[in-house]
Order: sequence, then structure tokens, then C-alpha cells
Amino acid sequence: MSIKLGRNDKCWCGSGKKYKACHQAFDEKMIRMKDAGHIVPEHDIIKTAEQIQGIKESAKVNIAVLDYIAEHIKEGMSTEEIDKIVYEKTTLMGGFPAPLNYQGFPKHSCTSVNNQVCHGIPSKDVILKEGDIINVDISTRLNGYYSDSSRMFCIGKVSPAKKRLVKVARECIDEGLKEVKPWGFLGDMGQAVHDYAFSNGYTVVREIGGHGIGLEFHEDPWVSYNSTRGTEMLMVPGMIFTIEPMINMGGVEIFIDDANGWTAYTEDGKPSAQWEVQVLVTEDGYEIISY
Ligand code: MF3
Ligand code: CO
Repeated sequence: MSIKLGRNDKCWCGSGKKYKACHQAFDEKMIRMKDAGHIVPEHDIIKTAEQIQGIKESAKVNIAVLDYIAEHIKEGMSTEEIDKIVYEKTTLMGGFPAPLNYQGFPKHSCTSVNNQVCHGIPSKDVILKEGDIINVDISTRLNGYYSDSSRMFCIGKVSPAKKRLVKVARECIDEGLKEVKPWGFLGDMGQAVHDYAFSNGYTVVREIGGHGIGLEFHEDPWVSYNSTRGTEMLMVPGMIFTIEPMINMGGVEIFIDDANGWTAYTEDGKPSAQWEVQVLVTEDGYEIISY
């Protein structure tokens, strides 16, 4: 918020409009919110119309890869095979899987089974079997723009308890989405997610959250699902972030696999489920970018 623009200068957002007819009132409101002690986004995480278009193109690839996995995932398949599909389908459409080499991550996707909370590393030794639940997390770069989403899949006949966990984890996202609107707070969304999980007898992982995304794989803000209404960053039009809570059937504690430095597991060995959507804050609510 350091740029001092004149009323008749072109707006910083790239619209081509005069500042006074575009983001001037917006910036003044942001300054008032900041002065009142709230966390407000910097201009660089507010996407321009052109950037949003690019991110949506990336998301088309992201969604198509997840749709393809949904059709083909089955008992007996290794998570390595899923990863290979992610690589092949993404590159065929001109994109590239963002996880490879991201902070040293060794594969093209994350595949997290049962008591794995997230960041499961695809392997030829992990074979899907009847009764498993798995999160497949796909992150895509296309023309420099990023998209990121994940879904849960049930392999064959799954126990009612696991089925319910998967269903409630999806519903947590819907509860969170209801709170996504301009001039609300990320904490409104976070608390809605948490309360819904909690009222169903589950816990929400604290250490790992969502993130801003679009021009980078992971941008500000960091997004918690254990936050409180009226706190955390203000949501404003043009912000894009992920809602991706990890919902545990048992206790909230997790640990990271020492051997690979990535994969999170539930401490008590009980199952965990996660879905991820990428969401844009609009003038009157939100738009789902990838899911
Ligand atoms: N898709 C994960 C997320 O939602 C990415 C984790 S980083 C990776 O943020 F390197 F493991 F891909
Ligand atoms: Co993400």
C-alpha cells in the first residue's frame, strides 16, 4: 500500500481505468481496515483480470487430470501409476506438475492413503486395496500460472466410518465456502470449517494449512482452519487461495515421516481425509477455480 497514485492516474490493478474510477475507494477502505488492526492483503496478491484468465486456463488442466484419475483409479493400482498418469496427462495438455522439485519434493503429485494426512509420496510399493481411502493432490503450472486441488477416492467397498469421514471432509469445504465474500475474514471461513468438523466428532490438523496461489505455487496468505471469526486476513476481490482442511477421525496430532521429510501421518494411526478447492474472491462472493 505504498504506491501513492493520483486520482487520474491509471489504476495499479491493470484495468486501464483511472484510479478514482477503479481501486481508490478500495485502497482507502483497506487503509481504514489496517488502521483498525486488521491484516490486509498487499496489492501483489490481488490478481488482475488477465492473471485470473491465465490461472483459469491452468485450472482447466488441473481439473481434467483429476477427472481422468477419477475414472481410472482402482484396486491393485500403485500410487506410482497415479503419479505417472498425472505427469503424462498434464504435459500432454501443455502444463507441468508443480510439485516436482518443489522444495525438493520428488514426484509429480501427492497421494495420501488412510492414516496419511497429506504429502504422501507416490511409490510402486503402495498398492491400492479394497477399503482404502486416498487423497490425490494435483498442482499444475501452465504458462507460469498455478492451480491446485485435490479429491478423495474410496477404493471398492469402504467401511461406513471411513465413508462418513470422506463425506464430512467434503462438506467442511462447503461450510467454508459459504463464508467466502469480500470484506469478510479468512477466520470466518476457518472457524466454519472447524466447527463443522468438530460437530461431527472430528479434529482439524493445525500445523498444515492452505495458501494463496496463482503467480506462485504457494503465496501469502497462509490459511488456517482452526482460526476464529473476525480474525486473519481480510478477503477482497481478486484474492485466490485454497481451502484444503485435513480432517482426522481421531486425535489432532500428526507427525512427519523422518525417512522422507514430507509425509504427514496421524499420531494415533486413525484415518484422515482432505479435499482441496481453489477459490477466487469476487465482487459479490466467490468463484471456484479448481476442485
Ligand atoms: N498440493 C499441496 C498443497 O496443497 C502441495 C504440497 S507441496 C508438494 O499445498 F511439494 F508436496 F507438492
Ligand atoms: Co494446496
